[in-house]
Amino acid sequence: MHAEDKFVYKRRLAFVVCEAEGALLRMRQLWVWMLLMALAFVTDRCHCCLQEERSGLLGIKAWFGHAGAGSYWLQGWDKEDLNCCDWDWVWCDSTTNRVIQLDISAVNYYAREDLYLNASLFLPFKELEFLNLSGNRLAGGLKNQGSLLSILFN
Ligand SMILES: *[C@@H]1O[C@H](CO)[C@@H](O)[C@H](O)[C@H]1NC(C)=O
Ligand SMILES: *[C@@H]1O[C@H](CO)[C@@H](O)[C@H](O)[C@H]1NC(C)=O
Repeated sequence: MHAEDKFVYKRRLAFVVCEAEGALLRMRQLWVWMLLMALAFVTDRCHCCLQEERSGLLGIKAWFGHAGAGSYWLQGWDKEDLNCCDWDWVWCDSTTNRVIQLDISAVNYYAREDLYLNASLFLPFKELEFLNLSGNRLAGGLKNQGSLLSILFN
């Protein structure tokens, strides 16, 4: 190789290395950008309900489960699904994302015995306006806890 050729070769190599580094940098920028877009997309899509209301709903589901009621209708209530506003039988206010309606009727439709509901289950829902508990063979529980219910629906 002539000295001149070597020089050209070195410069070409340097150029290629530079290009590769540039491409890597651009790729990294692209990754950061894509990550940001994904995050923006997720936060935009997830009108997540409040954590305490999600726990509250799971508490209700667990309560019906423990009470021996078939929680078939509540099967879709899944702790992995953070947006409880999208769950069956749940309606949220579109601005506060708080639960305003709960239709948990007929969850205990096939029950063999009466249930004594614990009204504390509904305390997390500060903006609840409508609650349908009919068809659950509920007995007494709520009557004894009338004051709690009046707090609920002040
Ligand atoms: C209702 O639930 C609350 C909170 O879990 C508990 O402290 C209370 O003792 C329960 N009341 C009855 C009557 O089971
Ligand atoms: C409550 O649920 C029962 C059973 O699904 C239904 O028949 C009734 O119409 C509901 N009540 C209201 C006020 O929506």
